[in-house]
Amino acid sequence: MDGKEKKPEEQNKDENQQVRVSRRDFLKGMGTGAIAAGIRTAEAVSPAEAEAALPPGIKASVINLNVNGHPYRVRVRSHWTLLEVLRRELGLTGTKKLCDRGSCGACTVMMDGKAVYSCSRLALEAENRRITTIEGVSDGAIAHPIQQAFIDHDGLQCGFCTPGHIMSVKALLDVSPRPGVGQIKEALSGNICRCAAYPKILESAMAAARQVK
Ligand code: FES
Ligand code: FES
Repeated sequence: MDGKEKKPEEQNKDENQQVRVSRRDFLKGMGTGAIAAGIRTAEAVSPAEAEAALPPGIKASVINLNVNGHPYRVRVRSHWTLLEVLRRELGLTGTKKLCDRGSCGACTVMMDGKAVYSCSRLALEAENRRITTIEGVSDGAIAHPIQQAFIDHDGLQCGFCTPGHIMSVKALLDVSPRPGVGQIKEALSGNICRCAAYPKILESAMAAARQVK
């Protein structure tokens, strides 16, 4: 330490870096003490200590998250959104923050299979739900057919809105593999593209629907 006090967010991030259970740790720790070790680290901080520096009405808790099939135990505060936790605490920055008030769709992720705005959901709500972000869509280095369709059909310009559009298309195709154009438009109606690449986005989504089925 250089003598400077860390901001509360930095302190929390340090704590979460200690409690995160990575995929590697999870696989290595199946039936061993690796996960338990992570959990013990989280619980070593007493609730009284955790809340000592919080403003009145704000609570801190350690929650279980399932993101892209990976288990995490994360220290969160009661007012933090799922978007904040994904990007800041878990480092999953593919999910974008733009309006931060539920109107653009850049932050779209899937929760239990449905497309949701992660900026409008509390992290606490996501506990023990199945969360899928854009990082969980591809199979390693191989692009998902929806991603490939966006590439092949130029379904993006700056690309900032693209993760949100892809998550909305995926949520649709997972339950409705042969959607009509009306269903696709409706599924994408909550996603704004400031570059106005809408014709190509629709073309990409329709191509994805043809490939995914
Ligand atoms: S950042 Fe969530 S809807 Fe815009
Ligand atoms: S491609 Fe730029 S915002 Fe959609």
